[in-house]
Amino acid sequence: MKKSQVNITIAGGGATHTPGIVQALFESRDKLPIHELRLYDIDQQKNDDMFVIIQEMMKQLKVKDITLSQTTNPKAAFSNVDFVFSQIRVGDLEMREKDEKIPLKYGLVGQETCGVGGFSYGLRSIKGLLEIVKFVQDYSPDAWILNYTNPESLIAEAVRRKYPNAKILNACDMTISIEETIARNYGYERKNWVAQYYGLNHFGWYTSIFDKSLGRDVMPEIIQKLKKEPMKVASFNAKDPSWQDAWNMLTKNLQLFPDYLPNNYLEYYLFPDIVVNNSNPNYTRANQVMDGRLKETKELAAQIRSNHFDDIHFDFGEHGNYIVDMAASIFNDSHERFMLIVPNVGAIPNLRADSVVEIPAYVGCTGAEPISMRHPINNFHKGLMEAQDAAEKLLVDAYFEHSYQKALQAFTLNQTVPSADKAKKVLDELIVVNKDYWPELNK
Ligand code: G6P
Ligand code: MN
Repeated sequence: MKKSQVNITIAGGGATHTPGIVQALFESRDKLPIHELRLYDIDQQKNDDMFVIIQEMMKQLKVKDITLSQTTNPKAAFSNVDFVFSQIRVGDLEMREKDEKIPLKYGLVGQETCGVGGFSYGLRSIKGLLEIVKFVQDYSPDAWILNYTNPESLIAEAVRRKYPNAKILNACDMTISIEETIARNYGYERKNWVAQYYGLNHFGWYTSIFDKSLGRDVMPEIIQKLKKEPMKVASFNAKDPSWQDAWNMLTKNLQLFPDYLPNNYLEYYLFPDIVVNNSNPNYTRANQVMDGRLKETKELAAQIRSNHFDDIHFDFGEHGNYIVDMAASIFNDSHERFMLIVPNVGAIPNLRADSVVEIPAYVGCTGAEPISMRHPINNFHKGLMEAQDAAEKLLVDAYFEHSYQKALQAFTLNQTVPSADKAKKVLDELIVVNKDYWPELNK
């Protein structure tokens, strides 16, 4: 029988995105009634800061009927739970900084999910996420894991290999954030949209955006607008002006390839030289987040503890709603539509079956029902995706087989890397700094 209320654990509870997720949970109680909300983190201090902030949010929003707790103990976190939202970041921002800065030293893209920085993060992250999956299988095998932990394609592939029957949905908020930003820039209502999209995670294209209220595909007119001028950063990203660079590059991409609306992350694969030139090797995105969101969160917790704070005000965008809506769609079996990262198995007919693709899917009580594209994709996108997907497969092989050779092949094949020599140098340096996190690559 269907439960009347659910228990939810946020893994990586101390992360700065937690208030956005929690606010969405509070606002969605009619469709997802919560009994217990638990914050789990291996960083006691960050978890406690977040606990203090969420407690205060509950007070201000007059939320009384939810039991809030925090723990660093996996058994307490994952027993008797219905949903686990994962946003763990293995190695935290200190290691993100290394993932970004070390490739830049060699003139390569330094980014947390794309390029060799993403591969570095991947070899740490796979281990952490597999641990979470194991905890959930041990303590609450019927629970659903909704995963935001990056790099999503690598995680999805690794979990598929190790726990093929795990109840996990891998999702990324980038498509919904692109859509919301477009809608706000040009006065559309995103809720009316049915979007067709395909790719790998952080590596895909829209093929149409049907607007139900207007009765037409609005993608061509959106592309015309974006080609002329970049869109502006939406209010929910206002504190991160570096998003403007991403939207500028989106326009550049469209000026060269105007047939499909690209994911902004393609800038790293199509224009790595420009991105590297525009990067500051001494101050990367990790530093911006440390000096921005992280600092603000710490300060807010301190202010709440000492009772010196104004009303808490956040503007979160769609990140929190997206994962909460997904849980509600499972809970109510309501078959809403989300972009999910899933094995291809024929959805894109001319792509290998075991590619890890990001495509629309309906979500209900049995999980994801991916939507078949029915039509083959074009050779430009197919070639880009196949090469990157093969690089990702090699990296996951390297993880499980402890293979240095496969890691080197993965780094070399990564679509941001022009030289095996540089691939090797970066790999060797990343091995040293990741010694506490990566599997030993000794075969
Ligand atoms: C988007 C991506 C996420 C990524 C995040 C980084 O939301 O979809 O996968 O983690 O951007 O944002 P940050 O502010 O941490 O650079
Ligand atoms: Mn993402």
